[in-house]
Amino acid sequence: MTSRRPFLLLLLSVLFALATITAPRRVEADESVIRDWVIPGGYFFTQTNGVEGNDELGYAVLDDEEAEFWTWFKRLGGVQALGYPVSQRFRHDGFVAQAFQKVVLLWDGQMQGVHLMNLFDELSAAGADQFLETHRFIPMSRSWEEDTGEPWPVIVANHLMLLEEDPAIKAAYYTEQEQGRDPITFNGLPMGIRDYGDVVVVRAQRRAFQHWKIETPWASAGEVVVVNGGDLAKELNLVPPEAQVPISAPVPPFGFGDITQGEALYRSTGCVLCHGLKAEGGIGPSLVGSEIEFIAFLISVRTPSDLMPPYREDQVTDQEIRDILAYLLSLAADP
Ligand code: HEC
Repeated sequence: MTSRRPFLLLLLSVLFALATITAPRRVEADESVIRDWVIPGGYFFTQTNGVEGNDELGYAVLDDEEAEFWTWFKRLGGVQALGYPVSQRFRHDGFVAQAFQKVVLLWDGQMQGVHLMNLFDELSAAGADQFLETHRFIPMSRSWEEDTGEPWPVIVANHLMLLEEDPAIKAAYYTEQEQGRDPITFNGLPMGIRDYGDVVVVRAQRRAFQHWKIETPWASAGEVVVVNGGDLAKELNLVPPEAQVPISAPVPPFGFGDITQGEALYRSTGCVLCHGLKAEGGIGPSLVGSEIEFIAFLISVRTPSDLMPPYREDQVTDQEIRDILAYLLSLAADP
């Protein structure tokens, strides 16, 4: 770090010199429809409301005394990893639950954390296997007679063997390890596999994986994607119908973000020191020109990958980060 200090000082002095001579400027950010925004205690999403042309109804992801789904949504990788929310909160087996496109999260009050619903086991129990196999490319579970009477470690080993049949899915199954999560707890045990021709699918208890052999609109050839299991849980009413109904946000969207405010924050919170005066890059990468989604941006600022210091909520709020992003997008719009 010490070797960087002269560079920082240089940047700082350049910054202050320039700050005094550059006039304030204002460029409108992309004014296209606002589909998601900050609300007290979390975030509101309209993308999955299922109502064509409606940008007001949706689902909130919140932290409150009952559960901290917003914190855990971000921690688990946000929209990228879990998809958008597709339900309000509901009760499931004594847990507070919320469905996202890919998973259903259950809040565990004792652990003060979340785990994923065993949704594919539950769909089996609800008699949906035939439907899933025929209409949704989800293979049935094997019979697993070899598990009978065996201790847990042997059972786990039996099931993990199934992944050897598709190394790409095996790699996807284990990626949670990089985030410090146990892949077996996170995904559940692998239960079944089937080659449907264009796609190989592994069904685990909590998530299912598709390994595409051909190019599709949602996956390139060779890519592994996580099945939208939360959508299936919703479709097959594992999510109670009343929790599926989208609601109005507790507060309306208040604009994408304030560009002027964002520019000031970009400087005052120190982003400028590492990302450059016009975000062109420095110690940190350039932040201009990337069509970055807000949630991904937020996660980068809260939990950076390497050298960047993490910014806590008491240092810069979610809305302030949104303002900063609005400023950065305005830079890209105005070369
Ligand atoms: C001390 C230097 C430093 C400061 C201060 C800093 N960053 Fe970073 N930032 C980095 C570095 C270095 C990276 C590359 C990833 C890493 O090393 O963590 C990065 C990565 C990022 C990324 C991910 C970019 C990508 O292409 O993946 C974003 C977004 C980001 N920073 C935004 C910000 C914002 C917004 C602020 C101010 C609130 C800020 N950074 C403050 C150094 C910094």
